[in-house]
Amino acid sequence: MSKFLHSKYKSITPYDTSSEIESFNDYIRLNTNESPFSPSPLAVKYASEAASGLNYYSDPECSALSNKLSEMLGVSPTQIVFGNGSDEILNFLFSAFCERGCVFPDITYSFYKILADFHGVDYRTIALNNFYLLPVDYVDLNGRTIFVANPNAPTGIYLIPAAIETLIIQNPQSLVVVDEAYIDFAGRESALKLIRRYKNVVIVRTFSKSRSLAGARLGYCVTNEELAQDIRNIKNTLTPYNINAMTQAAGLGSLEDDEYYRDNINLICSTRQLVKPALEQMGFEVLESATNFLFARHENISGARIFEALKERKIMIRHFMSLSAWNRITIGTPEQMQKLLRELGEIINHEA
Ligand SMILES: Cc1ncc(COP(=O)(O)O)c(C=O)c1O
Repeated sequence: MSKFLHSKYKSITPYDTSSEIESFNDYIRLNTNESPFSPSPLAVKYASEAASGLNYYSDPECSALSNKLSEMLGVSPTQIVFGNGSDEILNFLFSAFCERGCVFPDITYSFYKILADFHGVDYRTIALNNFYLLPVDYVDLNGRTIFVANPNAPTGIYLIPAAIETLIIQNPQSLVVVDEAYIDFAGRESALKLIRRYKNVVIVRTFSKSRSLAGARLGYCVTNEELAQDIRNIKNTLTPYNINAMTQAAGLGSLEDDEYYRDNINLICSTRQLVKPALEQMGFEVLESATNFLFARHENISGARIFEALKERKIMIRHFMSLSAWNRITIGTPEQMQKLLRELGEIINHEA
């Protein structure tokens, strides 16, 4: 650490990307919930065409993308703000709305805590119940901003919009941020309709998972005009041209080729439905997943051991130090999952 670093950043804990960097080299990557499928040919075509215009700054309002998305979602373009990945949107939300602190579940997306620490935001966690669901009973949150990933990561569990609505109604002084990074895999209702009914809701989404654009870095939030303007002001202060031209074009191409994504989502969900019972047959407990990953623990072998053994066999999954028995496994192609199941079978036989 240099002597020049601001004292407020001396104790920050950055997001650990080491296993992701390692897995770039000839691993089957089942560790970061990306799509195993390439972006649609139209997304690639539009991005390539945009490359020749890179001498100009990108459109700070992402107009074409915003118009198309607003049509699809049935909202006005001014209700949408785009981010360099939904992580950037989360960063804007922590900058804008967490003066009175925030709350999130004890088992959820690790970035909420990282951002809270970075912004010096006081946070509380809410323990998930025995079914890994967020209890929505009334507690006085005193205006803290509530972050709910739905479906949740890493558990994969989906909470019905009525439960989220209860949180919203019981906490009118709090902003409720619903992070729907995985909603396209749920086959269940989004909480989007709640932005019409309540003034304290922000929906966050990403093109990284179901739309195969993790490397392009594109996310967005949808909310009412007033909150969207607050978020846009933060964005335009920090990074007015945050979405590069190729990413805007790729995003538009992906929206225009919706059927391609629907097919991929269906294939990922049907693969998930085959892999879950196969893992259970091997002695894993697997939570019901509404996402493109499974959260599983084995009855006899620790999560760390399974992680290491798969890594030796060039398959990278995600292990969480704090959840020692559990691992999170992204759903890859059917072929990748067959290989995973074969290797796991051998590992379990070997350990028994
Ligand atoms: C719940 C959740 N939210 C947000 C993100 C961030 O996604 P991105 O920044 O790629 O849009 C992730 C990434 O894994 C996630 O799991």
